[in-house]
Amino acid sequence: MKRNIVQTRDGSTTIHIEDWDECYHSRFGAIQEAQHVFIKKGLSLFENQSVSILEIGFGTGLNAFITFLEYPKFKQKITYVGVEGYPVTVEEAQAMNYVSELNAETERPIFEKLHHSSWNEPHVLQEDFVFTKRQQFFTDINDSASFDLIYFDAFGYDVQPELWTAEIFNIMYKALKNKGVLVTYAARGVIKRNMIEAGFTVEKLEGAPGKREMFRAIKEIME
Ligand SMILES: C[S@@+](CC[C@H](N)C(=O)[O-])C[C@H]1O[C@@H](n2cnc3c(N)ncnc32)[C@H](O)[C@@H]1O
Repeated sequence: MKRNIVQTRDGSTTIHIEDWDECYHSRFGAIQEAQHVFIKKGLSLFENQSVSILEIGFGTGLNAFITFLEYPKFKQKITYVGVEGYPVTVEEAQAMNYVSELNAETERPIFEKLHHSSWNEPHVLQEDFVFTKRQQFFTDINDSASFDLIYFDAFGYDVQPELWTAEIFNIMYKALKNKGVLVTYAARGVIKRNMIEAGFTVEKLEGAPGKREMFRAIKEIME
């Protein structure tokens, strides 16, 4: 499928898939969306804790990079696993302007490491930040009670409805520890119903700039 690099409205880049007319991030702002959905409504809940994060769709590495920049503010220790079935090319990763847009020039080597490090093994990016890129399809995820937080960042329901089913959310539910949290930019009724069918408690929150709403789903097992 033909892919182009385009600029979103906050100035940050994303990849546009022509055949689907779908982007890797919100057209209203890739960085703004990542900051709002995954950091503000997800990561920030776990202040002063060790947090294991599962990212559904590693893509351009934006969410992983922003997490790396933000976690010291929350005094956390991070174990980060980014799952990706169809890695971006080196050229695409190099064309992303996240380092400059985030004024993070000193951390450029980290953004590069995210892309150049080997797959399927852990890398210590910093003493308290361990990063693994897993080349895997989402349907093959088989972790059990391993993660505190899931960044659910699949392509939209219109183009990949098969990734927003109760079966997929069952996999996510199983992968989370009790009291674990899944955040996503999406906010459709059918998605909420599928999350609930998988066992989640779902809240609707204010969406990222340009979007009204988003979901946060919690795994709560009564003990
Ligand atoms: C919305 S993009 C993720 C954006 C990414 N979080 C970022 O910060 O750039 C969705 C990602 O899911 C990947 N993907 C799509 N279907 C998949 C599948 N069945 N299994 C694994 N990865 C898949 C795509 O290749 C793409 O990288």
